[in-house]
Amino acid sequence: GKVIVNDQMMERSQHRIDMEDRGYQFGDGVYEVIRVYNGDLFGVEEHIDRFFESAGKIKLKILFTKESLKENLNALIKENELQLGIVYMQLTRGVSPRAHVFPDEHTTPVLTAYTKEMPIPKLQMANGVSAIVTPDIRWLRCDIKSLNLLPNILAKEEAKEQGCYEAIFHRDGIVTEGASSNIFIVAKGNMITHPESHFILNGITRQMIFKLCKENKLSLVEKPFNVDDLMNADEVFLSSTVSEVMPIVKIDNKTIGNGQPGPHTKQLQALFQKYIQ
Ligand code: PDD
Repeated sequence: GKVIVNDQMMERSQHRIDMEDRGYQFGDGVYEVIRVYNGDLFGVEEHIDRFFESAGKIKLKILFTKESLKENLNALIKENELQLGIVYMQLTRGVSPRAHVFPDEHTTPVLTAYTKEMPIPKLQMANGVSAIVTPDIRWLRCDIKSLNLLPNILAKEEAKEQGCYEAIFHRDGIVTEGASSNIFIVAKGNMITHPESHFILNGITRQMIFKLCKENKLSLVEKPFNVDDLMNADEVFLSSTVSEVMPIVKIDNKTIGNGQPGPHTKQLQALFQKYIQ
């Protein structure tokens, strides 16, 4: 299919990554993953806003407007006739002789974007998935959607080796988020998730869940909780662009609740489905 490189649409095979691209050498860049439902970008404004914010936080200048980026992404999914899937986009600090310091101001950042078909993980959403708990060894700016994902990758691989879907991070016993998702628990009828801070990525799906809870008068509080709270919760679920609202029914081999997706999780899944339509 076609891809976007800066403001051009082209065949994927027409683009080559330079070996001194700073994204390739240093992970010096930021990215976004946006869902496409029924041929439409879902939450595109929120994702583009966060993309610009992430770029700003690493002092990366974006040379185009939010509006033109949105137009290009829409043109891409149309061209590739994508109905259900994702758009991946990233921006690196560009190509320059290797040096840790920023390149001179004439170096232009490199934007790339492509589409990928991706089904909704329906079976797992219906039955729930398992997870492991692992120390959060990431840096202190997890609010930036940076290309540097080694700790996330290592945690996810560990989860996979143990037959699990997600790795849940804790920092000194406080649950922060998943390797590629935000984590929620339900305890005594209250939904709880880690407060927005430098320790987590403020997920777009997370923000939508807040909105849905507010509109439907469901109690959701931002409050730190620890691994004990997690293991003894009535319900646990994760949220992400790719996995929507996903029940977690087993953690480190301990069954959560009765081992089935709980009522709060199912209610949010239903509200989220309605929101997508
Ligand atoms: N991951 N936390 C982390 C560390 C993430 O990587 C993600 C998303 C989220 C959820 O954010 P959102 O709801 O905006 O997708 C939270 C994407 C999907 C990925 O890297 O594939």
